[in-house]
Formats: sequence, C-alpha cells, structure tokens
Amino acid sequence: MDRFEYQGGRLMAEGAAVSELAERFGTPLYVYSQETLLTHYRRLRDAFAELEPLICYSLKCCANTHLARLLVREGSGVDVVSGGELFRALRAGADPAKIVYAGVGKTDGEIVEALDAKIGLLNVESISEMEQLAAVGVAMGTRVPTALRVNPDVDPKTHVYTTTGKKETKFGVDLEAAGDVLRRFAAHPGLHIRGIHLHIGSPVNDVAAYELSISRGIEFIAAMRAAGVVLDTIDIGGGFGAHYAGSEAPPAAEYARRIAPLLRGRGLKVILEPGRSIAANAGIVVARVLHTKSSGSRHFLIVDASMNELIRPALYGAYHFAWPVEAGARVPATRAAEQPFDGLVRTDIVGPVCESSDFLAKDRLLPEMKRGDLLAVFSAGAYAMSMASQYNSRPRAAEVLVNGRRVRLIRRRETYDDLVLAEPPDA
Ligand code: LLP
Repeated sequence: MDRFEYQGGRLMAEGAAVSELAERFGTPLYVYSQETLLTHYRRLRDAFAELEPLICYSLKCCANTHLARLLVREGSGVDVVSGGELFRALRAGADPAKIVYAGVGKTDGEIVEALDAKIGLLNVESISEMEQLAAVGVAMGTRVPTALRVNPDVDPKTHVYTTTGKKETKFGVDLEAAGDVLRRFAAHPGLHIRGIHLHIGSPVNDVAAYELSISRGIEFIAAMRAAGVVLDTIDIGGGFGAHYAGSEAPPAAEYARRIAPLLRGRGLKVILEPGRSIAANAGIVVARVLHTKSSGSRHFLIVDASMNELIRPALYGAYHFAWPVEAGARVPATRAAEQPFDGLVRTDIVGPVCESSDFLAKDRLLPEMKRGDLLAVFSAGAYAMSMASQYNSRPRAAEVLVNGRRVRLIRRRETYDDLVLAEPPDA
C-alpha cells in the first residue's frame, strides 16, 4: 500500500499515525506521503531514462505548490492547462523552459502570459487555435514554440469521460487533417512548430493503446519530414495508470519497455505528461463517521468527507478502496473490495452534500463502524483536491504532507470567511 500501511492495526502515513493527524488537523483531511510521491516519479524517470525525456508533471491532478515543488526539485517540468496552473507552476519554481501548456481553449491573455514567461511549448488543438497563436506570436514579435495535438483515433479503453484519443472527442486534430495544418503553418513568422502532441486518455492500463498511438504519431512525423516539414519533438502525453483496487496498473518499467523502442534513435525530443501515476497513490482522504443508519436493506455510513473532497465516484463511478483507520485485527492485504474477514457489513459510504450522487463508495463489505470512527479513502492523491469544490458552502479541506515523522500543513483548512472572500461586502 505504498507508504500508507497498517502497523499494529493502525493506519500510518510513513512515520505518522493517521488518527493523530486527524486529531491535530481535523477532518476531512488530505494526507500525502512525500516518499510515495517521489518514488513514483523516480520509477518513471528511471524507466524512461534511455530516451532522456522531459517529464512534465501534470499539475491538474494535484496542484498544491508544495507537492509540485518537490517534483520540480527532482528535475521535473510541469504540464499546465490554464493561466492559473501556469501561475502555480512558476510559483513552485518550475523552469519555464520545462513547462508545456495544453488544452483546447486558451484565451489571448493566457497565451501572452505563457509567452512572457518564456515557456517551452504550447500544444495546439485546432486550426482556429493555430491561427490564434500565430496572430499573438506576430503581435509579440516572436515565434511561438508549438506542437500540434493530433488525434490518433485510438481507443484507450478507459471511462468515456476521460477518453481523449478517439475521433469523436473534442481533442486534437485528426491525423488526416493534421498534415495540411502543419504544411500551411510550418513557415509562419509567428510560429515555430516543433512537433506533435498525443494524449489518448486517462488512466490507460492497456499499454497496447500507447503502442498504437505512438506508432501512428511516428509514421506521421516521418511523412511530414519527407514532405519537408521538420519536426523534432513528440509529446506522448500522460495517462499512465495507478493502483485503485490492487496492482492493476502496469509498472512504469512495463510502459517504458514497450514504448521506448518505438521512440529511440529517431532524433526526437520526447516529452511525457504523467500526473495520476505519480500522485494518485501518494494521497488519502481521511473522514470521520458522523452517523450510521439503515434504510431498507441499505446500511449507510455518513461521513464528513463528500463529493466536495473526492468527486471521482460521483462523476465516473470510480472505485476507491476505503477502510477504517483503526483496523485492529482486520488489516486489509490489498485495496480490493473483497477482504477475507468475518462479520463485515455491506455498506454505502456517503457524504453530507445534498445530492444522491454524493457517495464515496457503494456496496462495500466493511467492518462495523460507529459515530466518531475514522475512515481512510485511498488512492486520493490525484484528481481529488484538485477537483474539490465548496458546493453546499463547505470550506475546502486541509492538506498535510508527511515525510518520515515530519508533518507539514501545506494548505490550511478554508474558513467561512474564505467562502465569501471574493464577494465585496459593499457591492
Ligand atoms: N496530458 C494531458 C493533455 C491531459 O489531458 C492529461 C489529463 C494528462 C496529461 C495527465 O493524465 P494522467 O497522467 O494524470 O492520467 N479527472 C479524471 C482525469 C482527467 C484527466 C484529464 N487529462 C479522473 O479523475 O480520472
């Protein structure tokens, strides 16, 4: 379980007891393990080392500047998708040359900010956006470093909401149309077109989907080179898996073993944009049981965490393993739903938000829990806090980072005043 392990029946985050963190900082609470975060980053870096890639941590998955700074210090670049993420990346100390900026819609203002910061690459997703970038480049008297996001029409076999590499999604330009776009803009004085960008979805546990999309990308680059359009960069995106239920995500070494041979020796600068595979298993959400109740055949645990803190179950029907922080003799061996203990109760874990979609888990066999007990929801380092909301005017939870026995509050719990901060009292 990475560095969230049960010792003597108690859940630890590295050297800190999770129950003590909950006492000290309150609940709901995000707890991150520094060692787990860095381990996942280093595994990926080492696995792909032969390609000397630029690894750009995908900030959208977990945007806390303190976490990003840890990765930046390891040499990571940052993948951003908005002016706000660019702001965070720079605040985390990222080298602008190692920042890539993606996304289907950027405002002129955001593009100017990115160029002022001298970031390394902007990924473009449509002809209209190529025209926009070219115009801003000309107006600023510069050639915008650009990659064209191509849509390889590959099914990543993941949730439909996080599928991006199929033709019918809004992302990228079809491979058939991409050649014309590049030929048309290759010599534009406002652009320096460096290469192509591919990102097929997230999470993608099927390595064959990468093989197919990268092969198509390589073929496309070769065809463009033959036609006189020089491309020196391939950004293969992110999407590598993480463990939610057990060890279902291929290890970094397996992705690299099958992807690297396609890319080596081609004179291409390789960029990776991993998020989830680095951060997901490095965080948990800790909640306290407010109430238990039964209704018909259903047994509910009503906890103080909700879709505000972790929207993935509501949005994608995502599975997150959940278990008591104080497990006693019932220490789970994996994150799978089936655990080999007697007397478990079939339970729905729900939050206080006024929506039927506000659940963290359904139909789980759990030890009986009572009011006041603590529950951990695992694999919540990615797309948890970064998708948090204040819906129902619930202040966002605090984030703490554990490094051995050292504990740092890296984002304080929001207050009621924070809820109304942007609403001038005298408007
Ligand atoms: N690059 C691009 C262009 C992306 O769109 C994404 C994620 C990534 C990189 C990073 O993907 P990762 O390595 O983290 O899988 N909220 C959803 C995931 C949305 C992913 C959006 N794009 C979830 O909770 O599953």
